[in-house]
Amino acid sequence: MQSQPSLRLLLLLLLLTTVFLLHLQPAPAAASPASAPDDGSDFIRASCNVTLYPDVCYASLARYAPSVGRDPARLAQAAIAVSLARARRAAEYVSNITREADYGADRRAAAALHDCFENFGDATDEMRGSLKQMRQLGAAGSGEQSFRFQMSNVQTWMSAALTDEETCTDGFQDVADGPVKAGVCGRAGKVKKVTSNALALVNSFVNQQAGP
Ligand SMILES: *[C@@H]1O[C@H](CO)[C@@H](O)[C@H](O)[C@H]1NC(C)=O
Ligand SMILES: *[C@@H]1O[C@H](CO)[C@@H](O)[C@H](O)[C@H]1NC(C)=O
Repeated sequence: MQSQPSLRLLLLLLLLTTVFLLHLQPAPAAASPASAPDDGSDFIRASCNVTLYPDVCYASLARYAPSVGRDPARLAQAAIAVSLARARRAAEYVSNITREADYGADRRAAAALHDCFENFGDATDEMRGSLKQMRQLGAAGSGEQSFRFQMSNVQTWMSAALTDEETCTDGFQDVADGPVKAGVCGRAGKVKKVTSNALALVNSFVNQQAGP
């Protein structure tokens, strides 16, 4: 007679404990890393839509999603940094093969390489200046006027960088086809895409700040 209520109590406790423990289990869907919804990569994909080469844009910038968040200024800054790094590497490549070409018979190729090295040097300087300017945005006493001025500098320098990269390729027009021309123009073409994308993201950021 006496054991009945205590058994019921025990069963009830067991049931409550089970329910409690079940509630403690994290819902499997919520913890799934595959469906991370707001890590910023959607923002980058949508932002890249304004560029001429959206796939290249997304591929080169997706890894910056955590630091970019949904900030168009940070995205533009990351795009400039990527473009700068690519232009630097292209300049290094051109410098490498220029040394060999200087001993070669193709004077036109050697001259085009020297010009191209200068073009990429200029593009690198302009993008370094752009990056510095972006980092100073909103620094001490910058009103609206100053923001516009700073951003117009970045727009000017980024389009100058793109023009310089195009000038490199143009310089090879009269050079005979071969591995040097193909190597430089192929690399320059890839850098031009990321620079063009960076400029588009800068322009898009400026337009967003201008308001509707
Ligand atoms: C990109 O733009 C196209 C055309 O404007 C649109 O159909 C598409 O949904 C956009 N994609 C993203 C990710 O915003
Ligand atoms: C340039 O040459 C150096 C030395 O040979 C090499 O380490 C480097 O990877 C080369 N850079 C490029 C971009 O080809």
